[in-house]
Amino acid sequence: MSLLKVKQISKTFKSKNFFTHKGRVVEAVKDISLSIEEGMCLGLVGESGCGKSTLGRIILGLEPPQSGQVIFQGKDFYKTTRQEKMKLRKDLQAVFQDYNSAINPKYPVKMAISEPLRNYLSLSPSEEIKRIGELLELVGLNPQDMHKYAYQFSGGQLQRVNIARALALNPKLIVLDEAVSSLDVSVQAQILNLLAELKRELNLSYLFISHDIEAVYYLADAIAVMYQGKLVEIINDISLFDQLVHPYSNKLLTSVLPSHPRFRTDSCVEFDELHAKPGNANECNYLDRCNCKEQLCFQVKPVLSKLTEGHLAACHKLKEINKA
Ligand SMILES: Nc1ncnc2c1ncn2[C@@H]1O[C@H](COP(=O)(O)OP(=O)(O)OP(=O)(O)O)[C@@H](O)[C@H]1O
Ligand SMILES: [Mg+2]
Repeated sequence: MSLLKVKQISKTFKSKNFFTHKGRVVEAVKDISLSIEEGMCLGLVGESGCGKSTLGRIILGLEPPQSGQVIFQGKDFYKTTRQEKMKLRKDLQAVFQDYNSAINPKYPVKMAISEPLRNYLSLSPSEEIKRIGELLELVGLNPQDMHKYAYQFSGGQLQRVNIARALALNPKLIVLDEAVSSLDVSVQAQILNLLAELKRELNLSYLFISHDIEAVYYLADAIAVMYQGKLVEIINDISLFDQLVHPYSNKLLTSVLPSHPRFRTDSCVEFDELHAKPGNANECNYLDRCNCKEQLCFQVKPVLSKLTEGHLAACHKLKEINKA
């Protein structure tokens, strides 16, 4: 049984322009299904605004979807009782991009780490201090650091404190929403190493949301590519990463600059701006940017279909290649 199963989740937002009072409907997540097994990291990539965080919030139980189900540990999260929800939340934690947001600058960081402990466990003061010390050690900090304030840490250290807080209740699944994106490159690598180590040691599962396909390659066991609210490709085995074939996945791959300028080609920086426009309801979402479109792409929206075992993509062209 999968630890997490997301079934046909959709979420729309209605927003009103302050000046014109005109309403706009944003389809942030459209009919998404995916699953995460125990001990597995699913990397979710896609450009800004494609709906990654919305999906993450829905999974975390923070944003009810319009339709679809979130099945966590065999329970339908949005349909279960309050008590069950509370229990499930204990096993579902998150680390966000803004490492300052969960830590109140007025108090030492032990207050931030003790918050989940106090909400769920009734530890004595000495047990609580011991647990906070253990958690700080687990993330590579000194137990004495619990008495420091947020301003006394570097960004990377503060993100370690956030990870310690997320680990406090021994969760099963952690949603890492751009958790390394605002750190500098060398610190990013250290935090990715730490996350990989913790995953191995504690048999954790991650939903690793990122726009950095290289970081996803490093940490994830499987990859899902999202475009305009929909999944356009899924590979269940990261060792087949180089077989990402959807035209959008290919663009994401070519947008990664090689480390040495000599190896950079024009295609490396070829990435056009997204101009979301109301298109024909039947046509492929990626049509405007695609350079291998055909007649069918204007008439029928492609759906995720199996290319090989554990590899799905939503593209008519790829289906044809696969059939040949
Ligand atoms: N509370 C909200 N109200 C209205 N629109 C929203 C709300 N939350 C998200 N959206 C819209 O939903 C879409 C998806 O947003 P989301 O934050 O999920 O994208 P994202 O992929 O996480 O982007 P980024 O990589 O920049 O974090 C965007 O168009 C966004 O403006
Ligand atoms: Mg986001």
